[in-house]
Amino acid sequence: MSGADMSGAGMIANLTSTGAALTITWQSGEAVTFPAIWLRDNCRCAACRHPGNGQRLYEITDLPATLNIREVARQSDGGIKIVWAPDTHVTNFSESWLTEHDLSASARKSRKKKPTLWSKSIGNAKPVGDWRQMVADPAAELAFLDAYHAHGFGLIRHSPTVPETVLNIGNHLGFVRVTNYGALFDVMSVPNPNNLAFTPIGLGVHSDNPYRDPTPGVQLLHCLESDAPGGDTLLVDGFNSATILRQEDPAAFDLLTRIPVNFRFRAEDAELNARQTLISVDEDGDIVGVHFNNRSLDWLDAPPEMVEPWFAAYRKLADILHRPEGELIFRLEPGDCVVMQNDRALHGRTEFDPSRGRRHLQGCYVDKDGMDSRARVLRRRLAEQKGVAA
Ligand code: OGA
Ligand code: ZN
Ligand code: ZN
Repeated sequence: MSGADMSGAGMIANLTSTGAALTITWQSGEAVTFPAIWLRDNCRCAACRHPGNGQRLYEITDLPATLNIREVARQSDGGIKIVWAPDTHVTNFSESWLTEHDLSASARKSRKKKPTLWSKSIGNAKPVGDWRQMVADPAAELAFLDAYHAHGFGLIRHSPTVPETVLNIGNHLGFVRVTNYGALFDVMSVPNPNNLAFTPIGLGVHSDNPYRDPTPGVQLLHCLESDAPGGDTLLVDGFNSATILRQEDPAAFDLLTRIPVNFRFRAEDAELNARQTLISVDEDGDIVGVHFNNRSLDWLDAPPEMVEPWFAAYRKLADILHRPEGELIFRLEPGDCVVMQNDRALHGRTEFDPSRGRRHLQGCYVDKDGMDSRARVLRRRLAEQKGVAA
């Protein structure tokens, strides 16, 4: 759906210019004011943007410091033409471009992706994709990615049960990030583990590696063997938990968005430190990240008077994350791969008994931008195909 459809705006009903800004009234009755500098900086003429790649050909300092709309006129195709002062540069906008870039509060709100919050009750309605279909059919892959993006996780079924499949999946959906664990890491019980993940101990829900800067955006865990009793996967929607915290204790929520804490991981070949808040919000106050890891949380480097309130808030968030009604529990079978947005879908596992069966997962990390891009490219290609077919 285009921004225009979602905002309820649409065709231009009226134009007025003060010289310093242009106000468009849409046929819906809603109005938006575009400042002159914003309109000029969006000029797509061949002198302003490279015709082949659309990249800007000038520096901001090349534009007149004070720009004015000398003339504005409606065109026969519905678009508008602006002639600028003090230079006589000409800029054309189509009607659809203007509706898609409407700066009104309602249009800006409607363009934001809204996460679909979930809890244990999502159960069998969780996002699932079939790997064989996903590689054969771009529409199936895009459907999986859309559901993944809305929920912050998805389960891929029926992938090969051969080692390193996780890298093929990661590099298909995005780009695998290499770390000191290598491109992939084996999750199994080993002697002298440098991480509790490599023991049979249960793991409370967490984000992986908050001690990295940047923290991995997406984690994949692919199951090769799951014969050992136990070892079920736990998932909690960190955005839902943070939303509950905001409702139940707004001051605690606020503290966790403002006071960062240190995270740390040490191994023979690694000394990793990063500092971040447990909850991140954007400029509108919307929740955009939750990082939680009791194992690698290091020390709180904060003014003494903030320490007790911060710990109380941390405990409150942990308490909400541990509520059974939030926790989705399922068992990974060989060939299953769970894909998790690492700053949202927090994961854990129940303990398992390695003396009574094998359990072997392989994991890797990919960055969020690669997966976002993949979804946009698939959507563009599918739309182009539809256009050709029509
Ligand atoms: C991990 C982890 C979960 C599991 O390796 O990061 O959380 O199911 N593993 O073993
Ligand atoms: Zn131009
Ligand atoms: Zn983990």
